Amino acid sequence: MSTTLPKNMDKISKNRLDLSSEQSKVNLAQHWNNVYTKSAQEKLGWHETDLSPTLQLINKTNLNKAAPIIIIGAGSTILVDKLVATKYTNIIATDISNVALNNLKERLNTQAVKFITDNLTSPTTLAAIAPVSLWIDRAVLHFFTDTKDKNTYFNLLKSKLAKGGYALFAQFNLMGAHKCSGLPVHRYSKKMLANELGNDFELVESFDYTYSMPSGDTRPYVYALFKKLS
Ligand SMILES: C[S@@+](CC[C@H](N)C(=O)[O-])C[C@H]1O[C@@H](n2cnc3c(N)ncnc32)[C@H](O)[C@@H]1O
Repeated sequence: MSTTLPKNMDKISKNRLDLSSEQSKVNLAQHWNNVYTKSAQEKLGWHETDLSPTLQLINKTNLNKAAPIIIIGAGSTILVDKLVATKYTNIIATDISNVALNNLKERLNTQAVKFITDNLTSPTTLAAIAPVSLWIDRAVLHFFTDTKDKNTYFNLLKSKLAKGGYALFAQFNLMGAHKCSGLPVHRYSKKMLANELGNDFELVESFDYTYSMPSGDTRPYVYALFKKLS
């Protein structure tokens, strides 16, 4: 007995794929909303009270206080509070979780920060923002284990970072954990970050840093600051 496949089989398969990737995006937003709904900020595995490694690299940039800065996957980080307190006036805090951003907005109550809920692996609002002078990502990029997602992320970074601007990364390093928040992660070295950024970027400074979680466990990170040359 022969089976005849519908002529529009390719289209049907593609629609199914689109649907399943749409569903996974919804699930990802749900995952992070659940995390920020269920756990107190101080108990999150990535909650930090000592911002010194990040601040040390921000100081290297010598940016003026009105320079546009974007904090990627901001979650509930107190880095935003710190930047506002030190008089930076043009900050974007973005995250896939509207729960996290609503909490942050309520906590900060300031005009110095704009809040954008968006997915870095299929950016819509973020694709339309004006160029920024500093892109800060702590513990977000490492979740993009799929090559397409990672490429979308780096294309967004490269298109939204102004010439002379800086990208500051803090990601699990090669000695780091394989999972974070129950999700698999891709671990990085400064060389791997440099390779992703390409020849338009130069490394300004990099170091390894061991972060102590609220539970007392430790997580080795790589910190790296790059300058966009052209
Ligand atoms: C481990 S937390 C780090 C939060 C913050 N950067 C910090 O250092 O405290 C990862 C953050 O990335 C956000 N995130 C994960 N996947 C994302 C995506 N595809 N687009 C935008 N944000 C995402 C999560 O909602 C979460 O707030």
